[in-house]
Amino acid sequence: MAPETAKDQYFLGRDFDASVRLYGQHFLTTKRTKWLLHPKVQRLAERSGVKIADVATGNGIWASELAEQHPNANIVGLDISDRQYPPAWTCPENISFDLYNCLEPPPDKFVGTFDIIHIRFLAGGLRGIDNFAKVVQNVGSMLKPGGYLQWQDAMAPGWILVDKSLEIDDSKTELANFAEAFDRASGGLLKGSLNYKLDEIFETSGLFEKVETINPDLVPRLLRYETDFAIKVFGEISGQVRGMLNATGRMTAEKSQELDESERLFAEYLANGGLIVYKTAVVLGRKAE
Ligand SMILES: C[S@@+](CC[C@H](N)C(=O)[O-])C[C@H]1O[C@@H](n2cnc3c(N)ncnc32)[C@H](O)[C@@H]1O
Repeated sequence: MAPETAKDQYFLGRDFDASVRLYGQHFLTTKRTKWLLHPKVQRLAERSGVKIADVATGNGIWASELAEQHPNANIVGLDISDRQYPPAWTCPENISFDLYNCLEPPPDKFVGTFDIIHIRFLAGGLRGIDNFAKVVQNVGSMLKPGGYLQWQDAMAPGWILVDKSLEIDDSKTELANFAEAFDRASGGLLKGSLNYKLDEIFETSGLFEKVETINPDLVPRLLRYETDFAIKVFGEISGQVRGMLNATGRMTAEKSQELDESERLFAEYLANGGLIVYKTAVVLGRKAE
């Protein structure tokens, strides 16, 4: 599926299947972190009338879950596309949705408005460090002084191959053969999207007085489910890349073979009992007073 507007660089879909991907991802992600908002932010989130924005909200599953946990909070889900928003009448009273492209400066109504801003899994819609830095500046300006930005995303190299050691060892997490083959065919989509250090981008923005990174532990009982999920996402990304290359006349015999080969290597890894999970981290920053 092509991006919906010229400014929309998101390469995954927004249909029902894509929405189911977001539910699966939400479930697995929050089982690992065990919270929606970092414990340091909980007390602030409990204050009556606290304003919270979920930027790049997708189908709003995180925002909806938070609305239930924090009935006194006023929550706004924002995205560049409203295609996945739930019907307004089905939403909890303390949640609303609006459109916003976070690569653009925010409208006045959002500037200095929010106590907490949450972003999750936006990396697929951004290309290059400059865009990550732009988002941090734009959403940073939406925070009140002393407010928090919590951003959880896939980190390079995207996926981790897991064995019984349960170590997150970066030398083992270099792009695996199948992802390398895929990346060549797609013109460096994975490396291009994930080659960023979010904590450094927070630090160099000059907006935050405290920045910390949380690396959620692996949970053995979830690994099989996370692997199923990674297979689903890999298939979806591969299909989108094939569609995009075909639609733009850029599919060559070589690229097609690279994609076939990446899928074959992936299937072989899994058939040998391989497990694979996303590498994610949460970066939390408190805006200077
Ligand atoms: C993988 S989904 C994540 C959805 C949600 N945050 C979650 O964790 O379930 C990425 C979302 O980012 C949105 N997105 C991509 N580029 C964006 C932009 N420039 N501004 C706002 N949203 C954007 C997409 O429309 C999509 O809904």
